[in-house]
Amino acid sequence: MKYWILTLLFLAPQVSSAENSKETMQKLYQILKTILTDITQDARYFDESNKTSIEKHIGQFVAVTHNLSPKHPNGNHNDPTFPILSQSLISEAELAYSSFHMGQTSYARGILRTVTGTCIECHSRSTSEADLKDFPFDPELKEFTALEKARFFIASKQTDRALEQYEDVLKTLSPNKSNLWDWEAALREGLTIAVRVKNDSDLAGRIIDSVLKEATTPQYIKIDAKNWKTAISEWNQEKKKKFKTSESIYQEALRLMSRAQKIKKYPMDHSADLIFLRASKTLYDYIKMAPSGPHIADVFLLQGLCYETLNPKHFENLHDLYYEACIRTSPHTNLSQNCYARLEQSIYLGFTGSSGTHLPEDVSKKLLDLWGLSFISKGLSPQ
Ligand code: HEC
Repeated sequence: MKYWILTLLFLAPQVSSAENSKETMQKLYQILKTILTDITQDARYFDESNKTSIEKHIGQFVAVTHNLSPKHPNGNHNDPTFPILSQSLISEAELAYSSFHMGQTSYARGILRTVTGTCIECHSRSTSEADLKDFPFDPELKEFTALEKARFFIASKQTDRALEQYEDVLKTLSPNKSNLWDWEAALREGLTIAVRVKNDSDLAGRIIDSVLKEATTPQYIKIDAKNWKTAISEWNQEKKKKFKTSESIYQEALRLMSRAQKIKKYPMDHSADLIFLRASKTLYDYIKMAPSGPHIADVFLLQGLCYETLNPKHFENLHDLYYEACIRTSPHTNLSQNCYARLEQSIYLGFTGSSGTHLPEDVSKKLLDLWGLSFISKGLSPQ
């Protein structure tokens, strides 16, 4: 399933963008709340007499996702991954609906439990005006684990409440073998929100301290966490700098990227992640401020490199989308050739197993098209 995002790229229909997106977001929240309440308790979910109403709710969810505006879900974004994430939400909702309808209720429930991952991916990118501290409703969260609660709050843009839950997970779960996955997810998601959405070094520092204090923290994370602490001190010293123009934002992103790349020693090395997160936030600032600015293709390449390192758990291959966006915005250039090389390597790696490298036909064709866009000079290219 690793390359399902790539496949979606070919399938993505043009979603209608009829409705005001703030309204759509609030409707998404309302219906998600109802659905999460439906699915938390076994007795309620599997009760035959609730079947019709649950199916109706999932149907409403599908209908609302179809109102997502593909390019600008809210505000003036030019993020090339937004259409794919919107499409992915639609596909998840539709699959949940058809599975439920055909009686595969447990399968449908599994999809609905993790659907918040898509909302989170969009909401954990950059500082936001929408931080809904006093949303009037909570779903019945009693049955949720602290991590599930945190994810629900991010999905509904209640950032501060989510952070409380992330900190709670790190305080109460100890990272032993059975909890390690959730504990590490809370750490990474909490830090992502602290850096990219809140832009708050104290908060990030507090999260890191709780990890360093914990006796059972695995060594590999402790070593990374010490490096992250150093990055926090540097960040605190740099705080007075203000970046008002898109050019200065770009220069700052370049500085952070080169700092991070100096620290990172091998592909799986996460010791520079805190700086990559800061770089990624700065790159989003550029995308927001200058969506057609002179550096946009390079910004997509750098954002791809950040994502390849940070590798968010819900979406493994978002970096490919940035490399592709880089090629498409700056075709037939040295830059697009560079982006093509990154994309090609990432795709070959994804389709290589013990029996060799097997690219599906549609993926090969797509790579060939992008190769043409990157390498063949303008006059010869079919585009
Ligand atoms: C394709 C990206 C994307 C997806 C997917 C997405 N959102 Fe959003 N959402 C946004 C953006 C962008 C904002 C505005 C944030 C800002 O102001 O910076 C937003 C804002 C919101 C808000 C605040 C609205 C307000 O009143 O200001 C809510 C609530 C919300 N989203 C709920 C959801 C839920 C629930 C889901 C998943 C079922 C979801 N969103 C999926 C991009 C997305």
